[in-house]
Amino acid sequence: MLTDFLSLLFWIKCFAKGAIPQKLPTSLVHLKCLDLCGFEFCFGREVDLLSALLLVTSSPNIETIKIEMEDDLTEAVSQAIMNLIDHQDYSYVTLDHLRVIEIYNFSNMKTRMDFVKLILAKSPMLKKVAIYLNEEIVDIHGRVKILEEMIQYPRASAKAEIVILNFCV
Ligand SMILES: *[C@@H]1O[C@H](CO)[C@@H](O)[C@H](O)[C@H]1NC(C)=O
Repeated sequence: MLTDFLSLLFWIKCFAKGAIPQKLPTSLVHLKCLDLCGFEFCFGREVDLLSALLLVTSSPNIETIKIEMEDDLTEAVSQAIMNLIDHQDYSYVTLDHLRVIEIYNFSNMKTRMDFVKLILAKSPMLKKVAIYLNEEIVDIHGRVKILEEMIQYPRASAKAEIVILNFCV
């Protein structure tokens, strides 16, 4: 199963050149823990954003998600990518088993905020959202802004707690 998953990830990240499907032909029903740390996800890059979204939204039994961000972009992120999550149709997605999501090296880039918004809206059993902020990029004001914005997002789970922590390398 793990091999299936890793090959899938590599297939997506390496070979798909902008033609990533929004849905997989079959769901990843066995996947309980999605650990995407170390894969250098750059949410300002379409292929990375779409593959992360594809994995999450194709895993209906997922309980835990861990993801680490690593934006090494030098060029500006296009408006199309910034608004990508808004323009996808995820009305069919529910993450009925998701309890914990941990996101490392977070900053307030719109696509990252939208990703959290999507997770909060789709996860009725969610207990904990742990956001590890990159302090080199986000100062105390940025931190407050992120929290203020996040607590306004509609939540499918009344018990979902958002905690903001420091990301230490
Ligand atoms: C954290 O993100 C920044 C840019 O957003 C990147 O330069 C850095 O390499 C990342 N650090 C780790 C440990 O992934």
